[in-house]
Amino acid sequence: MLARKIHDRVHWVGAQDPDRTVFDALIPLPHGTTYNSWYVTGSEKCALIDTVDPQFADQLLERLESIGAKPDFLISNHAEQDHSGMLPAMARLFPDAEILCSPKAKQMLLNLMELPEERIRVVADGETLSLGDRTLQFIHAPWVHWPETMLTFLVEDGVLFPCDLFGSHFASNTAWASQAVGVLREAKRYYATIMMPFTKPIGKHLDRLAGLDIKLICPSHGPSWDEPWVIMDAYRDWTSGPIRDKVVIAYVSMHESTRRMALHLEDRLFEAGTQVDVYDLEQVDLGMVAASAVDAGTVLIGTPTVLGGAHPIAVSAAYLLALLKPRTKWLGIFGSHGWAGKSVPHLLSLLEGVKCERLEPVTVKGLPKTNDFSAIDELARTIVAHHATLADKA
Ligand code: FEO
Repeated sequence: MLARKIHDRVHWVGAQDPDRTVFDALIPLPHGTTYNSWYVTGSEKCALIDTVDPQFADQLLERLESIGAKPDFLISNHAEQDHSGMLPAMARLFPDAEILCSPKAKQMLLNLMELPEERIRVVADGETLSLGDRTLQFIHAPWVHWPETMLTFLVEDGVLFPCDLFGSHFASNTAWASQAVGVLREAKRYYATIMMPFTKPIGKHLDRLAGLDIKLICPSHGPSWDEPWVIMDAYRDWTSGPIRDKVVIAYVSMHESTRRMALHLEDRLFEAGTQVDVYDLEQVDLGMVAASAVDAGTVLIGTPTVLGGAHPIAVSAAYLLALLKPRTKWLGIFGSHGWAGKSVPHLLSLLEGVKCERLEPVTVKGLPKTNDFSAIDELARTIVAHHATLADKA
């Protein structure tokens, strides 16, 4: 396996993992993923930026060997093991290399793996490192996944190495996002499931990055953004763009009652001209629901009642949404029960972390009947009235 030269001074020495199907034991990966590691060459010194998941040690080692790499610096932008996991091996292989990371990353790295502490040097925000005729600048950017994260910028060439930020789980034969069909959709799913809880800090980082002359973005997952404005504009939209006239209906159904409610709602909202994304949680992966919720005005969760509580699949979706904190403005619960149940308060308690207005829940006993459909119609009218106030309806 060979290193791939993607720029005059940058080689990709990472790993492709097209067969991985789930990340964090949670989010399905329809396109696999990559762990990108970058070798940057200056006239006097060289640096390796991030490594790969240790399962793919052979790919990193072979690609480094193919160019006779001898890094003077091992830069860790992010301590999570899919990027830092090969640092101990790199430290052994290159015994004179210095390990550079943010102050917060140092202790995290020492907690997560065996590393020689005396070889770790923390770098300050804005600090520069000379490689001879090239300069690396370190930008502390906490919460582009974890609190210790930083970005590295190759100043003279305008190449940004942002680790998870701007990433996508997308294994592809092309190095370039402009040639990878569907990568922006996967970048949105990635944003939704990794970055969405950190909308505010990411907004500040975007402001700061706007002051840099960025020509190429090389994230730690997925293709590189050779048209960097594409992903930067998308992130601006996802973090602070308008909330859309869109409703996400995520439901699970056991005996058709909740499904009929969901589909009736869909019809009514569609009639009103509202975009409706409907997901049967038994069939769809939660990554798609999360991506859909990034800019949705309303999110509705539908559940049947199982032994007095919400269905576990709906519980899982509600819990994940509470963790991901979408910017949605209205949240509602609907569902069905056989004799009695506490599924609505159960789900609402899980969703406490989502700061938005709650809609009046709609529940039915058994199959929905005429009166029940009237209540669903009322819910649809309420949503349409709320959405009339959204900026994209003005
Ligand atoms: Fe790809 Fe937060 O690690």
